Amino acid sequence: MLVPGSTSQSLAATLAAETGRPLATPTFDRFPDGETCASVPGFSGESAVIVAATTSNDALVELLQLQDAVREAGATEVTTVLPYMGYARQDESFGEGQPVSARAVARAVSTGTDRVVLVDPHEPAVTEFYDVPTTVVSAAPLLAEPLGEFADPLFLAPDEGATELATAVRDAYGHGETDHFVKERDYDTGAVTIHPGETDPTDRDVVIVDDIVATGSTVSEAVAALSERDPRRIVAACVHPMLVGNARSRLAAAGVDRVVGTDTVERPASTVSAAPAVANVL
Ligand code: R5P
Repeated sequence: MLVPGSTSQSLAATLAAETGRPLATPTFDRFPDGETCASVPGFSGESAVIVAATTSNDALVELLQLQDAVREAGATEVTTVLPYMGYARQDESFGEGQPVSARAVARAVSTGTDRVVLVDPHEPAVTEFYDVPTTVVSAAPLLAEPLGEFADPLFLAPDEGATELATAVRDAYGHGETDHFVKERDYDTGAVTIHPGETDPTDRDVVIVDDIVATGSTVSEAVAALSERDPRRIVAACVHPMLVGNARSRLAAAGVDRVVGTDTVERPASTVSAAPAVANVL
């Protein structure tokens, strides 16, 4: 049975349709003191696939509760799909006395599951933090479909680390060039500065590809760095459209025509489902 967290309702429903697995209907309650209680009434069977993006601390606790609830209801085999793994960007200790948060989260998630599936974690190396077998899948190629028709697109990664993603989208799209910017982040202020790459975006449709768009700072800086080169249209494509606070309007103000993302994080910009990528490994 597929068991959706409150953050992955749409993805789990699409996954159920795609795989033919029955879909549970968990309930999500909150006590007056703020504690959450996620339950799975009517769970049946021995195998549970929990699908829950840990986009917040509450979502993480809900996931741990769902894992416990299905075991309590008789599940003997639990797979946990993290469409978006929160804390994956804290994959090392950034200073004296600081935790490796990704490791702390991975250990907690591992206690209630037999297997983990991660969709495009920020750093693939986070798999090493899990105590159970962990599979990584990529939904990046699926971002090609909603892009529409471009004559000579340029797929740009905001930093070298995202080049593989940009290449995956370009390859799925079928034509166009790939390049990357050089990005520097000031970890004290959070400010990002970007220097453009070698290719010429003048009069071309540009697709800026990243794993996550959170505050929109990285993509906005990339757009600003392109402004003197007169690109035709700019689309931001990301696997995880986190888009916190005013990120969407910030991107629009910067000159981004469209934001295309998957439903690993369910937002209005989730124009394509990551379900086919996940279904492949279930
Ligand atoms: C960082 O290395 C990631 O790949 C993203 O570029 C970053 O997390 C995006 O965050 P924001 O939208 O806040 O700049």
